Amino acid sequence: MGHSLLCMMGFFLLSTVICGNAEAKPKTELRADRTAVPVGGSVTLTCSVSPSSSSSSGWKYYWYRYDSYYKLVTSPDAVFLSNGQISVSEGGLYWCRGGRGEPVYYTEDSKYVRIDTTASSRPVVTLYPNWSEIYRGETITVRCEIHGGDTEWDYEWETNSTIKPPNQNESRIRSASSSNSGNYRCKGRMKSSQHNTTEWSDSVTLTVSHNKPRPVLTVSPSWLSPGASVTLNCEVEHPSAGWSFYWYKAVPDLSEKSYSYELLPDGSGTAQDSYIIHGQTHTAGYVCRAGRGDPEYHTDHSQPKFVWSADVHSAASLTVSPDRVQHFTSDSVSLTCEGNFTEWRVRKFSEDGRLYSVCRRMTGSTCNINTSESDTGVYWCESGSGEFSSAVNITVQSMLLYIYFLDLNDLDVT
Ligand SMILES: *[C@@H]1O[C@H](CO)[C@@H](O)[C@H](O)[C@H]1NC(C)=O
Ligand SMILES: *[C@@H]1O[C@H](CO)[C@@H](O)[C@H](O)[C@H]1NC(C)=O
Ligand SMILES: *[C@@H]1O[C@H](CO)[C@@H](O)[C@H](O)[C@H]1NC(C)=O
Ligand SMILES: *[C@@H]1O[C@H](CO)[C@@H](O)[C@H](O)[C@H]1NC(C)=O
Ligand SMILES: *[C@@H]1O[C@H](CO)[C@@H](O)[C@H](O)[C@H]1NC(C)=O
Ligand SMILES: *[C@@H]1O[C@H](CO)[C@@H](O)[C@H](O)[C@H]1NC(C)=O
Ligand SMILES: *[C@@H]1O[C@H](CO)[C@@H](O)[C@H](O)[C@H]1NC(C)=O
Repeated sequence: MGHSLLCMMGFFLLSTVICGNAEAKPKTELRADRTAVPVGGSVTLTCSVSPSSSSSSGWKYYWYRYDSYYKLVTSPDAVFLSNGQISVSEGGLYWCRGGRGEPVYYTEDSKYVRIDTTASSRPVVTLYPNWSEIYRGETITVRCEIHGGDTEWDYEWETNSTIKPPNQNESRIRSASSSNSGNYRCKGRMKSSQHNTTEWSDSVTLTVSHNKPRPVLTVSPSWLSPGASVTLNCEVEHPSAGWSFYWYKAVPDLSEKSYSYELLPDGSGTAQDSYIIHGQTHTAGYVCRAGRGDPEYHTDHSQPKFVWSADVHSAASLTVSPDRVQHFTSDSVSLTCEGNFTEWRVRKFSEDGRLYSVCRRMTGSTCNINTSESDTGVYWCESGSGEFSSAVNITVQSMLLYIYFLDLNDLDVT
């Protein structure tokens, strides 16, 4: 109090020295109840000098604003609510100070607070392409769009993803990763008037999936009949999201223990998720995959699926000995690949839809198996030069069940 008194007593030249060194040098503090003026609303600013010995310490408050120039704030630019409190609706940098006495002693300026005004246009975040789920490695652009007039804007982003977009209206993510997953929102700040901002946009969620998608191919019918066409269907997750389709013939590749893929005629990048084959007469295998975007992102290839021919007069065939469809557990069955080819492997497509290689070791072109119930399925041969043979169904039934039925038959007879 002693120091303040000294200061007030009009030692004008000395005051800065005396008060500047004083421990109880008054501090000026400015608080704002919010940092942005809502559309049609206002912000309340409160200025106080401390320490102040009592409420009637005699301070008068002075308010300043800087937008494009510096200005003392007076009515009607602000509504004076009470001593030390005003309400403003213009954006800018605000600060205050207190003063008292005659001649007036002024406190130091408060720190400034930045008050923005809110433009009525609200930005929208869009993803281009607008896929709800994208895959690791895909290219996507995150955009902040502000409609309304030809105002020029600076852009700010807020996100909880690991990587924050730069302060621009759009950010191209060339190869997305999980670090780009998160919620994104943006706002604009007028280039011409830095204290005019838009509200935050709604948040948009970008999910980058770690998995590489693998489509599922279905082939129908499973068994060829003369004159009928074969329809392939390729199913991807999120089917509506801009996929195009690639169709391949699977060519047996014995060295790779798998298949190589040959594009079918006009099978490149079709908009349809189905493909029809006419005039197919032999067993064949097919594969599909999908792609989208620019640059194009490709899914994995589907598992191969087959259409089977029972025609034993084709270039390659599979014969079963003993020659019957129904076998019993522990039967010894031999499967022989016939045709003018040197190397073979035998394949089985099981009831649960899986593809197996049957014999690890073949005797020439013959493969012997001791059957169990899990051997039920469709069997065919594949040659080293990429041929499919005709196919056969093999059903293996439990021997016990067979004896049981035999007994019943015996009962019927007696
Ligand atoms: C800034 O926003 C306020 C309130 O919305 C508006 O009255 C003013 O015209 C805007 N300034 C500019 C330069 O557009
Ligand atoms: C993507 O945009 C198209 C039109 O451009 C719209 O029909 C579709 O609903 C949008 N999809 C999503 C997931 O927003
Ligand atoms: C982003 O800014 C560029 C350059 O200013 C402009 O060409 C483009 O149309 C803008 N994009 C959007 C989505 O506003
Ligand atoms: C971002 O925030 C949302 C909502 O709080 C949350 O569901 C999501 O998991 C967050 N994402 C990341 C990458 O932190
Ligand atoms: C193989 O079995 C399936 C269904 O069990 C049947 O539709 C098909 O005609 C059979 N093929 C042959 C050559 O017997
Ligand atoms: C088998 O193939 C070889 C070589 O391709 C050919 O010389 C031979 O005539 C063929 N034999 C039969 C029976 O088709
Ligand atoms: C089949 O069973 C017989 C008799 O048990 C055995 O000698 C033969 O090695 C078996 N063959 C195979 C391919 O497992």
